[in-house]
Order: sequence, then structure tokens, then C-alpha cells
Amino acid sequence: MAVKRIAVLASGRGSNFQAVIDAITRGDLPASCCGLITDNPGAYSIVRAEKAGIPVYIVDYTVYPAKEAYEKALCRGMEELSADLYVLAGYMRILGGGIVRHFHGRLMNIHPALLPGFPGLHAQRQALGYGVKVSGCTVHFVDEEMDSGPVIVQACVPVEEEDDEETLSARILAMEHRCLPKAIRLFCEDRLIIDGRRVRILPGSAASPGR
Ligand code: GRF
Repeated sequence: MAVKRIAVLASGRGSNFQAVIDAITRGDLPASCCGLITDNPGAYSIVRAEKAGIPVYIVDYTVYPAKEAYEKALCRGMEELSADLYVLAGYMRILGGGIVRHFHGRLMNIHPALLPGFPGLHAQRQALGYGVKVSGCTVHFVDEEMDSGPVIVQACVPVEEEDDEETLSARILAMEHRCLPKAIRLFCEDRLIIDGRRVRILPGSAASPGR
């Protein structure tokens, strides 16, 4: 099986991006990371990419006159990378329908809640505000609605009595760092079949038995 090329889109600190880099370095992820795309020239993700020798592509929203021009540039940049998979890991801009349709089945996102609960911003704050006793994270394929595409991997963490947004976010983030490489690995092993709203996970081989 050819090693898949993956590109990561991130706007900020990039700890999930780092988890992907680390999984590849450890040999846990049969993939090569062909680029980081960011909309934020000050993103710490850029430092992480440079340390790992991963090319960086900055598509700075503020230099484009309108959303259409930005999306066109982003789409062109993504295509030029010829990645098999594009991973949104803390990418803070909503992608337009054109991009989402164009990269259907090749675009993943990670969200810090158990979808369909608490989509959008401040998911951990929403979870605390609602009073749930468990929360977690979701890796899903992207569709045209926000945080709504077919679910690939989910995992939960407890919400403790004394939690605030910071402590809950940290617990969820540690789980994200396990779930994102896992979902990417399933993709890289050609084990994900999108079947309507469901993602079917094909059984692993002897070399990669895990679910
Ligand atoms: C993560 O919580 C992710 O689920 C959300 O944005 C955050 C990004 O964190 N979409 P990091 O930049 O990967 O550290």
C-alpha cells in the first residue's frame, strides 16, 4: 500500500498537528505530512512544521479582498499539495461549500465535544454550561454544515465536579491527541467507507489489527 500524503490545516498552537507529526515519527502512522496550511502568519503551528521540516503555506485571509478570492487561493493551495487527505486540526475558518464538495471524503475535522452535542465555538464551555457528566472529542468527515459530517472516531472523558473550562479542555485535548492519529491511520489503511451518515470501519490486517 502506497504511503498516503496528508496535509494539515491549523490556525493556532497546533498541538493536534504535533500529535500527527509525532505519530508519523514513531512509525505509528503510515503517512507522510506534505504540508501545513495556515490562515494565521503568527500561528505556533508554523514553528512546529519548521522543526519537523514540513513545508508551510500561509493563506492569510486578511490579504484577500473577499471570501471568494480567499477560498479560491486556499483551494488552489490545497490542490497543489496533491494530498490524499486534508486534516482540519484547529482551523478556525469555515470552509465554503465549493471546497467541501471538491474534497469530499478527503477532508477530516477534529472537534472537542461528542457531536452532535455542542458544535461550534467553545464546545467545552457549552458542555460545562449544560451540565453533562461526560464529554469527549469527535473526528469526522467534513460536510457542508458546521461540525456535522459522518463520524469516524469518538472517545469520551469524564466531566469532574471541580472542572472549569481549562481543566476539561486539557482532559479532552489529551484524548484528541490519541483520536486524531487513530482516525488518520484508518484512512491511510483504506479502512473507512462513507455510507450515508455512517462511516464503516473495515477490519484491520494482522499487521494493524486495532479498531
Ligand atoms: C482543538 O481542541 C480542536 O478540537 C479544535 O481546536 C483545538 C485546536 O487545538 N478544533 P490545537 O491547535 O490542535 O492545539
